[in-house]
Amino acid sequence: MSSGRYLLHHGLLLPTVAHTKESLKYAQDFHVEDTDVFVVTYPKSGTTWMQEIIPLVLNGGDLTPVQTIPNWDRVPWLEETRTALVVDHLTSPRALATHLPYQLMPASFFSSKAKVIYVTRNPKDVMVSSYHFHKMASFLDDPGTFEEFMDKFLKGKVLFGKWTDHVKSWRHADLGDRILHITYEEMNQDLHGALRRFSDFLGCNLSEEAIDGIAHQCCFNNMRKNSMSNYSLVPQNIMDSSKSPFLRKGEDTASTKQMCSIAHLFFMNNSHVGGLLIPEQICCHG
Ligand code: A3P
Repeated sequence: MSSGRYLLHHGLLLPTVAHTKESLKYAQDFHVEDTDVFVVTYPKSGTTWMQEIIPLVLNGGDLTPVQTIPNWDRVPWLEETRTALVVDHLTSPRALATHLPYQLMPASFFSSKAKVIYVTRNPKDVMVSSYHFHKMASFLDDPGTFEEFMDKFLKGKVLFGKWTDHVKSWRHADLGDRILHITYEEMNQDLHGALRRFSDFLGCNLSEEAIDGIAHQCCFNNMRKNSMSNYSLVPQNIMDSSKSPFLRKGEDTASTKQMCSIAHLFFMNNSHVGGLLIPEQICCHG
C-alpha cells in the first residue's frame, strides 16, 4: 500500500483523494434530518446507479438534476469532502450516499427517522469491478494481478474493509421499516419492479408512466452516455476510461471465465461467507 493514497478510519482504508480527517469529522457530526434518504453500499455495488435513480424517484421523474449535476454532487457521499460544499444546495428530501458501515454512522442518524436503501451485490462481481476500477484510477494503488487483488479483497485490505463486515453490519442494523434491502441483481433483472419498491418505500406514489421514464433514463446504456454520471468529467490522468470505463459491464456475473471460476471457488462453494448467509438470488448467479 502506498502511503499518501489512503488514510485509516476506524481500521478502514479510505482514499485520500476524497476523504480527509475533516470530512470524516464532518460526517460524524452531521445533522441527519428525518426526511433524509441514505443510499448505502459497499464500493462497486451500484452506488452511481442509485445516485441516478433516487433523485428521480424523489422528484417524480424530472430529469433536470441528472442532466445538470454530477453524481458526486447530486447525491454526495456523507464521508467525502464534497458534502460540506454542496449540502446547502440539496433540496428536501435530501438524498445522500455512504459507504460507511452501520456503526460509523453519525449519532444523529440513529435517533432520526431517515430512511436507508442498502444495495448488496454479488461479492465476486464487486471484486472484479473493483479490480478494474483500481486499474483505471490513478489515485488508487495498482491492483497487481487478479490473484493478488483477490487475496487483499478476501482479507479486507481494500477500500472500506471486508465485504462481509459491511454487509453484515447493515443486515444487523436495528432500523425496522426504515431500511429497504435490495440486490444489484434484482435491479438488473427487473428495474421497473425495483423502482416500484423504491417509490413505495419512500412514499412517492409514482405513476407507471413516471416509472417507465425513470427506468429508461437509468438503464445501463443510457447512463453510460450521461456525462453527469459516467465520470467523463474527471480528467483522464485521474480516471483513465481507455483502461476501463467506469460503467464497465453492468452485468450480474464476472466478466471472464478465469475470473469467474477463481472467484467462484472462493465465494460460491457454499452460501456462507464469513458467517453471512448470502441471499439466494446472489448465490444462483455465476
Ligand atoms: P461493473 O464494473 O461490473 O460494470 P459503484 O457505482 O458502486 O462504484 O458501482 C459501479 C458498478 O455499477 C459498475 O459495475 C457499473 O458498471 C455498475 N453500474 C452503474 N450503473 C449501472 C446501471 N445503470 N446498470 C447496471 N450496472 C450499473
